Amino acid sequence: MNENQLTELLEQMTLTEKVGQLIQLATPFFKGASDRGEITGPMENMNISEDDIKQTGSVLGASGAHETINIQKVHMEENRLGIPLLFMSDIIHGFRTIFPVPLAIGCSWDLELAEKSAAIAAKEAAVSGVHVTFAPMVDLSREPRWGRVMEATGEDTFLNSEFARSFVRGFQGDLVNDNHKVASCVKHFAAYGAPEGGRDYNTVDMSEWMLRENYLPAYKAALDEGAEMVMTAFNILNGMPSTGNEPLMRGILREEWGFDGVLISDWGAVKELIPHGVAEDQKQAAEKAMKAGVDIEMMTSCYVNHVKELIAEEKLEETIVDEAVLRILQLKNKLGLFEHPYRGASEEEENIHILSPEHRKASRELAAKSMVLLKNEDTLPLNQAGKVALVGPFAESTDILGPWSWGGSAEDTITVAAGFANYLDNDQLLVSQGCDIQNGSNEQFEDAINKAEQAEVIVVAIGEHSDMSGEAGCRADIRVPEVQLELLKKMKALGKPVVAVLFNGRPLDLREVIEHADAVVEAWYPGTEGGTALADLLYGEVNPSAKLTMSMPYSVGQVPIYYNRYNTGRPKDAPDAQERYVSQYLDIPNEPLYPFGYGLSYSRFEYGNMTLSAEQMTKEESLTVTINVTNTSDVAGEETVQMYVRDLVGDVVRPLKELKGFKKVYLQPGESVEVEFQLGEDQLRYYHADLEHKSDAGEFEVFVGTDSRDVQSKKFRLNS
Ligand code: BGC
Repeated sequence: MNENQLTELLEQMTLTEKVGQLIQLATPFFKGASDRGEITGPMENMNISEDDIKQTGSVLGASGAHETINIQKVHMEENRLGIPLLFMSDIIHGFRTIFPVPLAIGCSWDLELAEKSAAIAAKEAAVSGVHVTFAPMVDLSREPRWGRVMEATGEDTFLNSEFARSFVRGFQGDLVNDNHKVASCVKHFAAYGAPEGGRDYNTVDMSEWMLRENYLPAYKAALDEGAEMVMTAFNILNGMPSTGNEPLMRGILREEWGFDGVLISDWGAVKELIPHGVAEDQKQAAEKAMKAGVDIEMMTSCYVNHVKELIAEEKLEETIVDEAVLRILQLKNKLGLFEHPYRGASEEEENIHILSPEHRKASRELAAKSMVLLKNEDTLPLNQAGKVALVGPFAESTDILGPWSWGGSAEDTITVAAGFANYLDNDQLLVSQGCDIQNGSNEQFEDAINKAEQAEVIVVAIGEHSDMSGEAGCRADIRVPEVQLELLKKMKALGKPVVAVLFNGRPLDLREVIEHADAVVEAWYPGTEGGTALADLLYGEVNPSAKLTMSMPYSVGQVPIYYNRYNTGRPKDAPDAQERYVSQYLDIPNEPLYPFGYGLSYSRFEYGNMTLSAEQMTKEESLTVTINVTNTSDVAGEETVQMYVRDLVGDVVRPLKELKGFKKVYLQPGESVEVEFQLGEDQLRYYHADLEHKSDAGEFEVFVGTDSRDVQSKKFRLNS
């Protein structure tokens, strides 16, 4: 259809039909559905009639070509004007082939593989009839207590923005012409990742300066890359729930950024304006959300039951509804649904693409590239000849896909034990569960000890059940559950080399794990090929290259913790610092256990002295930062060289370090490479007190190194 035809269609629609486009319902509401689909929030009696369902604009959580084609077919017959449904789902880190959780993908620092993972997820989802994915989630978070930190790529604004772009490119690509692509919905706008106390859905309160400086850029990056949709956040932001927040949605998102795509509420978030205490009833909730510019209400019925009344009472103008409907029709049209309502859905293609060897291979590669080697005292890689005891609740668990993997299945998942079988004969591998996630018995411990006593090395696979993170999966104690630590200690007491492998969705307090293991690998939730990828890594088939994108705290008492912090007026490490009146804890260090950017390799990389092309730069001429990196080991490996900057005197305070660039280099044994970074004036801009985004002339420090702590630095000036 062309734009005129769309407007004509809009003119033909009754108000009831228009309002119908603004509602999104989960799969069980629809005729033709045989499956419940994905349910990610409370299902309630919504006071929805059969007629309302016929007018509905979009479906949540349906998938499978058979299912989606059926639902669409019935709908097209029953909808007076034959307006097709949009099918939306959470395709977060894979559809059937599950990739590592996004936080793990972040640790790969591999933008190309991230894009590829999204493209594969899009293809699998598209052939099963999905049109829109509720991804990427780009909520910056410094809060390991918050269960949803695993959904975004970490604590850094710049890196998150880069990943946001990669994911959008991967999902959407040539959306209009390519049926294997899905539209992308960036979420959760805005600042959902900064809840007080790390408790989900909780209050967010921050200055506009902080918001713009750190929290908004990744959403903006996703939109600049063309993301078609935005989802509101559950939280309040500075006193107003996002879903009714007019200055945020109409002001920043639509007017300032020029976003003219579809804005959808999160699940039930329109009605939640009532418990938030900013709407007295569903009618007022509908009014506030409509006025804020929320086009689609997900899974509550405030719009469908009250918008007509609000218009009749002149509390809402019909043009607001028309604009929202037009945006939804435009998206349907962009996806070609008026001509091809089933778009890419095809059972035949499902059989070809879903879980194809190529997709599994990509998942395996990314999983291995996402696992962070935290400690290694001459223990890894393992020697294929030795007998291994594999113990712990994750030894044979298929719960390694992580939250948001509803499309994945246990049968398709390669466990750690199965992965080890690629490297060891049966009689070389002794497996014992050792304990459960939260509980254990003496018999379980004894079995583990018995097996471990027969082995040369003990691999202990421990961590969090996937329900312990994700939405509403917050924890105040971020240690590995006690019983698993006990298992680890019992293993260590046997006096053999112990490798601890962690499966979890958040940075943890790992002090006790580090103390009782000779090598530690943070495997996160690695996805469908998790077991294979881990074995590849432990046996040296793949050399670890991942680096943390969230600080691993020393203890929960440091949270929120992030590398790009401010100095304070009384920094602890100042040369003239006093003993007491400095910014510090009396009982724990200020520093995290492992900093942002940290991760070991089986190779050894040595950095030469960094040089700058000049000591001064101007707005027009960038600076070149060069450093030599050599692989001084006898193992080929990949290093991620990181560049940070500090603005020494700002209009407002500036972080001690801010990531401004990174380069991945793959070096053969003995090989050297010159790594070059360009540093331009645009990278030195920041939000001033008056919220202007600009740079200041003056002195800066540039740092290059292997992580955010281990760096060398040089000063330079920016001239006006
Ligand atoms: C989550 C969203 C998700 C939506 C739809 C909500 O509970 O917060 O991230 O996209 O459900 O499943």
